[in-house]
Amino acid sequence: MNRKFALLFASMLLPFFAAAQDATSEKYVGTSKEALPYPQIINVSARTPISLDGWWKVIPDQYESGYYNYRLVPFATKQTYFADLSFSKDRTRLVEYDFDMADSLMVPGDWNTQKEKFYYYEGTIWYRKKFDYSPKQGRRVFLYFGGANYETIVGVNGRKIGKHTGGFTPFNFEITGIVKDGENSVIAKVDNRRRPEGVPTINTDWWNYGGITRNVYIIETPETFIRDYAVQLKKGTDNVISGWVQLDGGQPAQDIVIEIADLRRKHKVRTDENGFATFEFKAAPELWSPENPRLYEVSVSCETDSIKDSIGFRTVEVSGAKILINGKETYLKGVSIHEEKPFSPSGRACGEQDAELILGWAKEMGCNFVRLAHYPHNEAMVRTAERMGIMVWSEIPVYWTIHWTDPGTYSNARNQLEEMITRDKNRANVIIWSVANETPRNPERLDFLKRLISRAKEMDGTRLVAAAMEKTYLDKTTVTVNDELIPYSDVVSFNEYLGWYDGMPDKCRTVKWTFDFEKPVIITEFGAGAKSGLHGDRNERFTEEHQAWLYEEQIKMFSTIPGLSGTTPWILKDFRSPKRPLRGIQDDFNRKGLVSSEGQKKAAFHVMQSWYGSMDD
Ligand code: GCU
Repeated sequence: MNRKFALLFASMLLPFFAAAQDATSEKYVGTSKEALPYPQIINVSARTPISLDGWWKVIPDQYESGYYNYRLVPFATKQTYFADLSFSKDRTRLVEYDFDMADSLMVPGDWNTQKEKFYYYEGTIWYRKKFDYSPKQGRRVFLYFGGANYETIVGVNGRKIGKHTGGFTPFNFEITGIVKDGENSVIAKVDNRRRPEGVPTINTDWWNYGGITRNVYIIETPETFIRDYAVQLKKGTDNVISGWVQLDGGQPAQDIVIEIADLRRKHKVRTDENGFATFEFKAAPELWSPENPRLYEVSVSCETDSIKDSIGFRTVEVSGAKILINGKETYLKGVSIHEEKPFSPSGRACGEQDAELILGWAKEMGCNFVRLAHYPHNEAMVRTAERMGIMVWSEIPVYWTIHWTDPGTYSNARNQLEEMITRDKNRANVIIWSVANETPRNPERLDFLKRLISRAKEMDGTRLVAAAMEKTYLDKTTVTVNDELIPYSDVVSFNEYLGWYDGMPDKCRTVKWTFDFEKPVIITEFGAGAKSGLHGDRNERFTEEHQAWLYEEQIKMFSTIPGLSGTTPWILKDFRSPKRPLRGIQDDFNRKGLVSSEGQKKAAFHVMQSWYGSMDD
């Protein structure tokens, strides 16, 4: 091709490149490719959300015929189920799906425990919800999901909007100008297949609950609104409140007022051309603590928007082998919890009622701390715990054998970490971010976790960052934790199953713990299985007597562990797992719960309760 023609040809292409550039720069607006979610809007419950919870029409699509052609090439959107065609409207047209004729599932909720036919289902289920809406002048509209497991592609009114990956963190899409006056429809393709490169990967000791497992809202905001903010005590002080505000919209530079009426503080600051401003001001708040979970109404307002939040102020730090809350040495009297409903048929928990019940059991056991394993739980769980004076360990599902060298796996894990911290960074009760659980020690894993830890500290330097590590025998009776991750972790937290996976309970009497670090120690898992109501000799596995004996032996051993500053026994309640098939005893449940899947407290519950009760606060 001669040079002149080449230049002419290239100039003809320019507008397309420019357009392509525009399309990719508008990465948040629905495109033919799956766009990214819009940056997370926080504290959505304060924006009088329009709930889309309730019955949604569903179409199971194990072979994803609603998305790919027979060569597994993605269809154009109008040929996918996002088109929401009708079988009956034109019987000359070949249509092989119809949401109006389909089954329904409740949202929020996993599909596994709603319908027998979905108990083991792993694949795609399409959801559709119709809703009436009338766009308001000058208001922006967002579609917000509290969470959906695992990969979700969303369409509104026949247009594909974007995709989110990760089963336990919120995501939202802007749908301004896509929602119309009158009836609208949102369609979500939710695929819970486990992926080797996923986060988590394909092997987990919990049920792979699929579906829209959390709330779905329509959020309306002014054209320029307060999308995100951080308000908490400045690190190292208990009398300076600091933070930042991020506006979103066409008027980024505005006067901001942060007001805490009960502290008679009203602080003004102005956002820059990116809509961002930091602030700090003196104040002497009554500190949040488990004994006094004091929350303040904090109002953040700008010229075009305002929002209120309930925020507590406290300090958390480590000093040698101690954890200090508001400067006071505090033992974390905890318990681990999976996000499951308190009673049969179990399934994914969501909302305040589930949270109050589950956390009520923890409170009854004497807990001031819960390890929300192994993934971020729903926002109501964290906020309810905050109101109840229960501190939280919050964790991303970097679990067991993650693909450490896969860049996509890392960005997925990092994204879930960012979404977790973005949502909960203003919750005073969250004191520890955890980046992993029981991961194999190798250089790639160390690099992966070090990068996550530094990202967590970059986003939020005020909280402790940790991971659940594992014990190591130095010889037949000497145990330690010498994980390469320890220098990067604020506490040394680890799981140990002495007396269950490692000998019988009396083995706890034979070991000597030794550490060569001066950091607080948290035992993030110990425990044994028991079927509620099964009684017998304490040597008999899965009897309540055996489990109680294990707890008695563990508690005796705790007094020999240097720097022990917290315990979160595994686990508060029996939970469903595909790895627990023992018929008549497990029946697809991991029976290490201190409470059964029917809500009965086992003997070991009371062993733990009396030990925590014997501690002075
Ligand atoms: C591991 C793991 C848990 C699991 C537990 C068990 O420590 O972290 O997710 O459920 O052991 O085997 O019960």
